Parts: sequence; C-alpha cells; structure tokens
Amino acid sequence: MIGVFDSGHGGLTVLNALHRSMPQTDFLYLGDHHDAPYGDRTPDEIYRLTLAGVSRLFDAGARLVILACNTASAVALRRLQQTWLDAAYPGRRVLGVLVPMVEAITGVPWMADLAAERPAGPPRTIGIFATSRTVDSGAYPREISHRAPEVRVVQQACPDLVPLIEADAPAEVIRAAVARYTDGLLSQLGGEMPQAVMLGCTHYPLVADHFAALLPPGVEVLSQPDLTARSLTAYLERHPEFDRPGTGQVHFLTTGDADRVSRLATRFFGKPARFEKA
Ligand code: DGL
Repeated sequence: MIGVFDSGHGGLTVLNALHRSMPQTDFLYLGDHHDAPYGDRTPDEIYRLTLAGVSRLFDAGARLVILACNTASAVALRRLQQTWLDAAYPGRRVLGVLVPMVEAITGVPWMADLAAERPAGPPRTIGIFATSRTVDSGAYPREISHRAPEVRVVQQACPDLVPLIEADAPAEVIRAAVARYTDGLLSQLGGEMPQAVMLGCTHYPLVADHFAALLPPGVEVLSQPDLTARSLTAYLERHPEFDRPGTGQVHFLTTGDADRVSRLATRFFGKPARFEKA
C-alpha cells in the first residue's frame, strides 16, 4: 500500500492519476484538512505538519509516501529526507511532486551526476504558477537551474486561486483571477513567450482550461498529476519492494470533518470518495 499525503483534498487530483496508472496498487490517502491550507503557513509549520502526516501513513503500514502537495514538497521534503526519515523510519521512502516536474522540464534524471559534462539544450522559458509559499521557497527555480541552466524560470504566486476553487466560485470569477495571474507572469517576461507553464499546485488542474485559454496559443500546460503518475510507475519498476501486489483499494482519511470533506472530494477525485476521520 502506498501512502499519499496532502494538506487537504487537492491531492486527490494526483491520487486520481496514480490510481488510473496503477489500478492494482492499494492507496491510503491522508488529507490534513484540520490544518489546511498550507500555502500561507511558515516553513516550520509546514515541516511539522508534513512530518506528522507522513508518520501517520507509515504507522498505518505504508512503506512509501507520496507528498501530493507542492507546498509540502517544496518546503519540507528535503528536510524530512535529510534530517528525519532514516532515523525515524529506516528503509521507508518519501517522494514529492517536485521531482517529476523538474525532470520533465529539464529532461535530466534526478539521480544524474550533475558535475558530468552535458550538452546544454536550447534556451527556453518556463512559467510556474503556485502558492505563495511554494514560490517563496525557490525550490523549482533552484532545482531546474542546477540541472538545466539554459532554462529561464519565471514564477507567479496565485494566492486567491485555492480559496476560489475550494469555494467552487463561478467560472467568470475564476477566469478573472486566472487572467490576473497569467497577465502577471507574462508581464514579468516583457513580451517573451514561455514555451511551457507548470501548474504547481494540486488545485490548479481543475482550472487548467482557463490557464490554457488565457495563455498565448502554443504555450504547453504541463499536467502535474500525469507526470507524477508516470514518474512513480518508473520508480516502482526500479523499486518493486515498495509496491506489494494489492487489489486496487483506495482508502481516504482526513484530520478534518469527514462528512464535509467527502462532499467536497468528488470534484477533485473525479468520482465519489468516502473519507473517514484519521
Ligand atoms: N496542496 C497545496 C499545494 O499543492 C495547495 C493547498 C494548500 O495551500 O494547502 O501547494
């Protein structure tokens, strides 16, 4: 069984893609609705809450946990891996959604020897839309430029989007907010066109159509759930010890109000999801 952790129900967009790609794998999802959203919290709070959530999933039997939350992946994952995981849960793994995106953008495998000579690709510009905390962490530009210095990364924080999507705001309100953020990104570029943009937040796939419609034609919108699923499938081929055969069961836990969360979840998971109190 693989654990999937998120600050709330946004990570269901990622879980949906994982479940479709790995229909025989069992998943246990934990949403920390009690403490969501993470997007405006301090790095220390995000670290502490993520550590607690991952511990719960390990204690429930997961040997591998995916952080579906960009904010947790960008702010807490490296610290968890470097200072806590091996001592607290030897032999277990925590992976995030940042690595698959960085690999897809740069074309450089995460474990590649970064000191080795590598022909530089053509100069490219990539836009990233994310929560304020993910943008402030600088994790995406840092990891991309380590691997592919020829890629220019421009970030745009979208602080209104998570609350509007959670509130199921009318399409015109969402579109106006997305327009503010796409305009913000494009004005940082001063007329240059990005080749692609990444929606670096669990909630944004639900409004991907607005991003695609409001960006100039030809700008590719990268799908984080699909890229994460592809990357996890490849990881499990290399590490089958983390994927014991299952029957495709998915269980949902929340630190919040299970009935309320279950009502909200369908929009994010694409089908009903019955949450239980963790
Ligand atoms: N899950 C968060 C992310 O992907 C968005 C919601 C939140 O701010 O907690 O960044």
